[in-house]
Amino acid sequence: MYNAKAYAAPSATSPLASTTIARRDPTENDVQIEILFCGICHSDLHQARNEWSGVMPTVYPCVPGHEIVGRVTKIGSAVTKFKVGDTASVGCLVDSDGTCPECKQFLEQFCPNLILTYNFPDKHTGGVTYGGYSDSIVVDERFVFRVPDNLDPAGAAPLQCAGITTYSPMHHWGVTTGKKVGIVGLGGLGHMGVKFAHALGAHVVLFTTSPGKKDDALRLGADEVVISRNADEMTKHAGSFDFILDAVSADHDINAYLGLLRRDGNLCLVGAPEKPLAVSAFYLLFGRKSLSGSPIGGIAETQEMLDFCGKHNIAADVEVIPIQKVNEAYERLLRADVKYRFSIDMASLKSK
Ligand SMILES: NC(=O)c1ccc[n+]([C@@H]2O[C@H](COP(=O)([O-])OP(=O)(O)OC[C@H]3O[C@@H](n4cnc5c(N)ncnc54)[C@H](OP(=O)(O)O)[C@@H]3O)[C@@H](O)[C@H]2O)c1
Ligand SMILES: [Zn+2]
Ligand SMILES: [Zn+2]
Repeated sequence: MYNAKAYAAPSATSPLASTTIARRDPTENDVQIEILFCGICHSDLHQARNEWSGVMPTVYPCVPGHEIVGRVTKIGSAVTKFKVGDTASVGCLVDSDGTCPECKQFLEQFCPNLILTYNFPDKHTGGVTYGGYSDSIVVDERFVFRVPDNLDPAGAAPLQCAGITTYSPMHHWGVTTGKKVGIVGLGGLGHMGVKFAHALGAHVVLFTTSPGKKDDALRLGADEVVISRNADEMTKHAGSFDFILDAVSADHDINAYLGLLRRDGNLCLVGAPEKPLAVSAFYLLFGRKSLSGSPIGGIAETQEMLDFCGKHNIAADVEVIPIQKVNEAYERLLRADVKYRFSIDMASLKSK
């Protein structure tokens, strides 16, 4: 074991602060990574504040962060995919059993024995896993990705969660040329959703509560922008969408979006608000509509998404911040005030 510098939430109500955590020394299949950038996902905030206590109660201290890009500093003797000095990335998963039917189908995100990057039991240390708000991390090479050289590392970091979480359901539900696709919420996930839906050839409509984001949405690839609080603008799109991806982090009226689906259309939730959403049965019955959900993506699919991003030159639009601004960044996330992902420059941790 060795000591790593990190930022942790000491409790649900206290700000994140500098701390030291124990990491394992790399075993034979492990890669040790010096973390250069880590994106801030709204899930980090939900988890740090124990807003998902019913499903995944938080163990403190909690070191969030699952959008990690860094440089390989050490490899175990059996590692074949990486060498020291490579750029590498880690997302939301750091382990799975590798033997269950889900793993065998490359769907590790559904493995009953998956281990998330933070706040999950850590078999190596006996504690919980600690995420990317840290100077380094040690991960089994099976869960480490190659980052295309042409992508800026600060903007590539958010691909590990915001990227795959929007890419995976679009592939699963067949987003392609000729489909009318809605994206709800222009935050970290939403702006990646707009980029992917556009790159896949769909007609993209972005729904936002923030009129000031309209020009950005068009620049990011939306064909149309609807201010969701304007009932007239919403009504114009009634019954017309093949697929809507809902990336909203807080309570909102999803019936308003179910009404916009065409027959057999699908509304997929990727947003994970603290409180349950109210669904009117009638919005589903009339039109035989589906309401679905999707978590992150598998390991092979995440690498595929990264390669797709390399080919199409897609990365997140980021505001790079020092780790000392993380609490301020959380407050801004709650105000929907981020353009469009915070990416922490981890060199700032060295100055503490
Ligand atoms: N399924 C998964 O595997 C997965 C993975 C990552 C994250 N998530 C979840 O996805 C959600 C979004 O994450 P994120 O990191 O993209 O968050 P984010 O950057 O904070 O973006 C959320 C966006 O939702 C909209 N919004 C916020 N409050 C709203 C409200 N009260 N009513 C309507 N719209 C509202 C805002 O967009 P506008 O300003 O455009 O309205 C905001 O920018 C979170 O709940 C997160 O935990 C799920
Ligand atoms: Zn995330
Ligand atoms: Zn499994």
